[in-house]
Amino acid sequence: MELKQLIRERRSVHVFEDREVDPALVVELLDTAVWAPNHRMTQPWRFIIAAGDGRKKIADACRNVNERWERDPAKKQETGMKYYGKIMKNPMIVTVVMKENPYLQVREEDYAATAAVIHNFSLLAWEQGIGMVWETYEWLNEAVFREAVGIQPGEKAVGNLHIGYPKAVPAAEPRIPASERITWL
Ligand SMILES: Cc1cc2nc3c(=O)[nH]c(=O)nc-3n(C[C@H](O)[C@H](O)[C@H](O)COP(=O)(O)O)c2cc1C
Repeated sequence: MELKQLIRERRSVHVFEDREVDPALVVELLDTAVWAPNHRMTQPWRFIIAAGDGRKKIADACRNVNERWERDPAKKQETGMKYYGKIMKNPMIVTVVMKENPYLQVREEDYAATAAVIHNFSLLAWEQGIGMVWETYEWLNEAVFREAVGIQPGEKAVGNLHIGYPKAVPAAEPRIPASERITWL
């Protein structure tokens, strides 16, 4: 696929086929994705990959948090299980973790570079017919999730990427043409 078409047609995918994604392919795509620009070459990222039963650790953490957050005591268990199920519907989850540099300037550069890696990865995956959504839910940096997947002090979860073969691709949300956002000097 032509790069221009790939960029324009990639969508965030929320619903996946019940079909595994080849872990070796994902690692190969990540290996290309890390060729993102990165000031100071800090390469602050690492990836935690959950597939099959491995997803249960994340689903359990999600259930735990959502049970706690449910205000109606009668609904706690039901709400927890609903969120557990939502996580388990994703064939694969890649947690993108970034080392948090103590200096704000470097931390911001590192976040930008990590975002570039994520977008590289999502374009490479799309080219292979694989969809994903970058999730930043409220519990992403809750202790229960961090402990479940082994995120260390001084590390930040930048996102959970829900990955799979798309069952449905959402319609594109229109973009304001860049030409309307340009100031010429
Ligand atoms: C930093 C970041 C965080 C995001 N977090 C979420 C999220 O928590 N939940 C979600 O459904 N989509 C999330 N998205 C996806 C956006 O909602 C999506 O990119 C946007 O709606 C445009 O749709 P498109 O990617 O299909 O073009 C996130 C995207 C970015 C870049």
